[in-house]
Amino acid sequence: MKRFATWITSGIVISGLILFSTGITQSQEIFPAGQGRNTLFLVCVQCHSLNRVTEAKLTAADWEFIMYDMISRGAPVREEEIDALKKYLVDNFAIEAK
Ligand code: HEC
Repeated sequence: MKRFATWITSGIVISGLILFSTGITQSQEIFPAGQGRNTLFLVCVQCHSLNRVTEAKLTAADWEFIMYDMISRGAPVREEEIDALKKYLVDNFAIEAK
């Protein structure tokens, strides 16, 4: 009986680890490492979730506009972070212009 309990416990621990690591892999694919990612994670979650970013269908030009729009709404992006953030958004989330 004791062995059975140990078996169950390790089963739970192992499946937890698997779920945890796939979660990490997925977020790396959606938000690849890059300059600008930290700014996105720190700044762009203050008013809404990052679903706004991942689900937006914006061209490169739209992203530039939206980024400044968010800054004018109060997103605290530092001057020296603007270029990296813009590049990160465009590189990873821009769709083709029609
Ligand atoms: C001060 C609050 C605030 C912060 C910080 C903020 N946003 Fe927003 N964001 C909003 C609001 C409010 C809306 C909804 C605007 C609307 O629907 O008219 C929005 C909407 C959006 C949308 C959807 C716009 C569209 O037209 O599809 C995107 C994309 C977006 N935000 C990206 C960002 C990014 C990137 C950042 C970080 C630079 C950011 N937001 C930070 C307030 C904020």
